[in-house]
Amino acid sequence: MILLLFGAPGSGKGTQSALLVEKKGFFQISTGDLLRSAIRDGTKLGNDAKLYLDQGKLVPDSVVIGLVDDILEKALSKGHKLFIFDGFPRTGAQAQSLKEILKKHELYAEAAVFINVDNEVLVKRLTGRRICQVCGSVYHIENNPSKKSGICDKCGGQLILRSDDKEEVVLSRLETYQVTAGLLRNFYNSDGIVKEVNGDQSVEVVYENIVSSAGL
Ligand code: AP5
Repeated sequence: MILLLFGAPGSGKGTQSALLVEKKGFFQISTGDLLRSAIRDGTKLGNDAKLYLDQGKLVPDSVVIGLVDDILEKALSKGHKLFIFDGFPRTGAQAQSLKEILKKHELYAEAAVFINVDNEVLVKRLTGRRICQVCGSVYHIENNPSKKSGICDKCGGQLILRSDDKEEVVLSRLETYQVTAGLLRNFYNSDGIVKEVNGDQSVEVVYENIVSSAGL
């Protein structure tokens, strides 16, 4: 099963992916997480990507397509069968490449779920989000605070504001999403697999709606 999760920054793709991994055994492929991990490791790819992430711009297609091709290959060789793509594809070229990569493995996308949330709500979610700099767990200062302020409940790591969650960068990321979302909707509409979910509801309700709309 190949499930594509779309949504603006802060719409809850990462939160919902974590639940799908935990409850349904999906393997999550998040290009944002892969890039942040490369940045933390200080690799050449990470250092190059940081320039784009810090400004809220898209990393070049060739970089993310290569990452996805590689991780999918490895996960398939380990026997994984259920995949969520979180934050990929983001351009027409990425969508076309994903189709070809999946075809190589006799796979195809079965559901493209768009999580819809108004911009005003998204800005509050992103500027209040804190992530653990050790394990990447996601919190929110009001909606989902850690038990001890600034400290991760899961691993005791320090909670930080993502460099691209500063308000000026958030606005640029939201603008980029508005431009690309229509194009991706059209791409997957032609395959008849687009589902729309209202993301401005509790995490649990959004999860149930994704599960039922994608037929999981
Ligand atoms: P990426 O990491 O993919 O970021 P994004 O798409 O901007 O999405 P976010 O991670 O910000 O938000 P989310 O939807 O996962 O929300 P979350 O669940 O955390 O990409 C980052 C950057 O990497 C890009 O800008 C680009 O530079 C680069 N990049 C990545 N992929 C690329 C690609 N394919 N091509 C080119 N460049 C690429 O939730 C947000 C907050 O809201 C949290 O605090 C959470 O607790 C809270 N929350 C979640 N759900 C709810 C709810 N239902 N109610 C209340 N609060 C909620």
